[in-house]
This record gives sequence, structure tokens and C-alpha cells, in this order.
Amino acid sequence: MTHIATRMSRFAPSGTMGMISLANRLKAEGKEIFSLVGGEPSFNTAEDVKAAGIKAIEEDFLRYTPGEGIPELRKAIAAKFKESGLDYKPSDIMIAPGTKPLLVAAMMALADLGDEVIIPVPYWVSYPEMARIAGCEPVFVDCDPKTGFRLSPEALEAVITPRTKVLLLNSPNNPTGAIYSEDDLRALITVLKKHPQIWVLTDEIYEHIVYDGRRLVSIAALDPEIAERTVTCNGLSKGYAMAGWRMGFAGGPSNAMKAIGDLIGHLTGASNSISQRAALEALTGDQSYIAEQVASYCERRDMVAAAINQMPGLSCPVPEGAFYLYVDCSGTIGKKLPNGAVIQSDTDFIMGAIEHAGVVMVPGSTFGMGPYFRMSFSMDKALLERAMEKLRRYCNMLS
Ligand SMILES: Cc1ncc(COP(=O)(O)O)c(C=O)c1O
Repeated sequence: MTHIATRMSRFAPSGTMGMISLANRLKAEGKEIFSLVGGEPSFNTAEDVKAAGIKAIEEDFLRYTPGEGIPELRKAIAAKFKESGLDYKPSDIMIAPGTKPLLVAAMMALADLGDEVIIPVPYWVSYPEMARIAGCEPVFVDCDPKTGFRLSPEALEAVITPRTKVLLLNSPNNPTGAIYSEDDLRALITVLKKHPQIWVLTDEIYEHIVYDGRRLVSIAALDPEIAERTVTCNGLSKGYAMAGWRMGFAGGPSNAMKAIGDLIGHLTGASNSISQRAALEALTGDQSYIAEQVASYCERRDMVAAAINQMPGLSCPVPEGAFYLYVDCSGTIGKKLPNGAVIQSDTDFIMGAIEHAGVVMVPGSTFGMGPYFRMSFSMDKALLERAMEKLRRYCNMLS
């Protein structure tokens, strides 16, 4: 067989995609499967946003757009950032088909080959692979569950080396739902100020999915010196229920955004013309449905967190944002499955849940910290209720 490039041996395929395929395969075999894997809103894109996309097609707005995005959308994004205290010129806004390519382009633009990218653990599955794609070394730093899975300044300081070039921050966090408060961020800023070679790359894609009156604080809004070293990434997949439209955007200082724009220009160009028009409507049109959707996620969160915390061997904090529970399953380790096999890891627990409950979730090893698993609660409430009942019965089966 003709050789596949050696660099491919450095990457692992996405663990969550693997579980999604497994759930689909079992469903196709006729099994009753409850997939709590995906990170996708259950809501449809808002009608006015869809209409803007349809209008773009009808108006034949279907040609190449400028590589960095249409000017009116860049202006709207700059205005949106301004509401969060982020002062970016429209010319320093880049648009791409999803947040994913922006994160990779940012790492490539900000760090040299072999430089280190600090990734707090647990992390979103793609971050380590993104760092590797960029030719960088991911450096992992554990975030203590006792402090809400947030990176502490001491832990950050301990992993910084002369090769550290990027600190990746994700708030609200996937998979834990943790949100960094202003105090948390100011403590990290104190450390970062001692190391002027470090860029901050933030992923704020769950910005709108925050609970109990919380509001996302962006690190770049807190300190002008740090703002000069921060690239803020965001996208419309989650809060605006637009995952399939592929719309991501980023803002930052001119030197970084020019470099990122140059890369995106070669790699993907801006998002497609239809999605850009739809995104313009999403950002400038009616916003009231977002709060309604968040209220619905909040109801689901309360239901699933209460259910999980009553199951023997499982416990989880109530997440502050995003739509995932990160569940500690250490209490099930050492217990026996109905076939007599002993549960030795979160993966064993998850495989047992698939077999005995038909509930598919993602083992914590995928996010760098076990024995945990991630359970998405973005699905509709009736499905979640049935899945919780199945999971409760499974946990009661373990001896
Ligand atoms: C933390 C995080 N960042 C980025 C993404 C991908 O975003 P996009 O759809 O904009 O590429 C996801 C999707 O699950 C995510 O959870």
C-alpha cells in the first residue's frame, strides 16, 4: 500500500466522533440507543436567520466573498465583541467555516514548530490534536475538581517553560461547564505578565450558554497588556443553534489577526456566503430566543444533575455553563458488571452502560481526566428522562 504521511501517526481520531459512530451503528442494528454524546443544540436555527440564508441564495449572493469575511459581518462582530468589553477594529476580525479552523490557524500563527501550547485538563477533545497539527507540543495541566476544574495560577506557573507560546483557555468549558470568573482570570493575568512571550488563545463558543445569571468574562477585556496578547475565538454553532452553517469568528491584535487571516485565506477562506448573511441576521436580529433556549437547557441540567447525583457510584457538580455533565464514576470502579467482569476504568463503565442501558456517553480519558465520563444534556427532555431511568437501573445492577 502506498505510504500515508508519517505526520499522521502523531494524531488520534476524535474520541467523541468514535462514540457517535458507535451509537449510530447500534441504532442501525435495531437496538434502543440513547446517545448522550453530541455537543449540538436540540433547537433549530431561528426562522429569521434561515430566511436570511434563503434570501442570500435567491439574490444569487453565491460568489467568493473576501477571504476574511464580508465587511458588514466583520463590523457586526466587532460591535458584538464591544458589548463584552473587547475593543477590536472590524479589520481585526476574521471569519472562518467554524471555530475549529480558527483555533488551528491561531496556533500556527502564534507558535513556532516545537513550541509548547498549554492545555488545561480536562480539555475539549480537539485541542491536543490541533496543537499537534500546528507542529506544537501540547503541555497538559490538571485542573483540580475541588476548585471547580479551573486552572489555578500555581498550576499554570508550574508548567511554563521558555518554550511556552500559547495558553489555551476555554470558558464556559467543554466538558466541565466551568466558567472563569473575573478573579480567576486576574490571578492568571498576574502569572502571564511575568512571561511576555505567551499568547492567550480563548475559545468562548459557549458564551451564551451560561446559567444562574452568570455572564462570561473575557480575559482580553480585563487588561490592555493581555489584550495585546490575546486572540478571542467564538462561533455561532452553540448559542445560535447554527452548527451546520459553519460559522466561526475571532478578534485580536492586528499582527495576530493578519497572520491568522493569511492562513485562513489559503486554507478555507471565510465561511460560505450564505452563512455569512445568515450570521449577520443572527447577530443583529432578535436575540430573545437565546434566553429561552438557555432556560430550557437549565431545566435539563437541573434534572440530569439531580438524577446522576442519586445514582450509586456517580457524582457531578452542577455545571455553570455549556451543556455537559462531567461525572465522577470512581465509585463504580471495582464493582462487577452482570457478566461478572470487574469495572476497572471509566471506559469499562461506559461500555457497560452501552450494553446494559443502551446509553452512549464519552469516557473521561477522551478529555484527559478519568475516571470520569461526559454526558451531554442538549437533547430533548423526554429522551434525557428515559436515558436517566435506564442509567439508574444500570447503576443499580452493579454489585
Ligand atoms: C469547546 C469547543 N470549541 C469549538 C467547537 C467547534 O466549534 P465550531 O462548530 O464552530 O467549529 C466545539 C464543538 O463541539 C467545542 O465544544
